[in-house]
Amino acid sequence: MQRILYISTAREKLDAIELDSILKVSRRNNAAVGVTGLLVVGGRRFLQVLEGPDDQVAAVFDRISRDDRHFAVVKLSKKTVETRLFGEWAMGYRTVASAAMPDEGNLSAIVERLIAPIDDIVLRAEFTAFAALHAAA
Ligand SMILES: Cc1cc2nc3c(=O)[nH]c(=O)nc-3n(C[C@H](O)[C@H](O)[C@H](O)COP(=O)(O)O)c2cc1C
Repeated sequence: MQRILYISTAREKLDAIELDSILKVSRRNNAAVGVTGLLVVGGRRFLQVLEGPDDQVAAVFDRISRDDRHFAVVKLSKKTVETRLFGEWAMGYRTVASAAMPDEGNLSAIVERLIAPIDDIVLRAEFTAFAALHAAA
């Protein structure tokens, strides 16, 4: 099983209806192929975790990266895992207040804000480490 994490930026800030439609489609598609995960939205930034069978995660990620509602899709982490962290959610959803998001700034600061709503402390630490590495590169 594979788990990937990426961040991206919306071309235009999506409203509640558009976000709702993304979640609805995601939950339907992901449930059909055994993919679970979490989507965090903060202003125009997205952070998403996808986990499930290798091929299915790759296919879903491929489709998402070609979606022109967002750009600058940066994969932060790709890992082979034994267990799911978001097994109960075809696609969980969390938001971070736009006001809490840095307008610009380094990846590390952006990721730091986006991972705040993630409950799992180990996962949060892992993502912070990835962001720090990436920002330093
Ligand atoms: C930030 C973001 C996250 C998305 N996450 C998923 C997802 O987890 N699963 C999925 O199937 N589609 C996701 N999508 C939508 C896909 O890009 C694509 O529009 C959709 O899968 C097409 O599905 P359809 O062919 O059933 O209409 C996401 C789109 C965006 C912008």
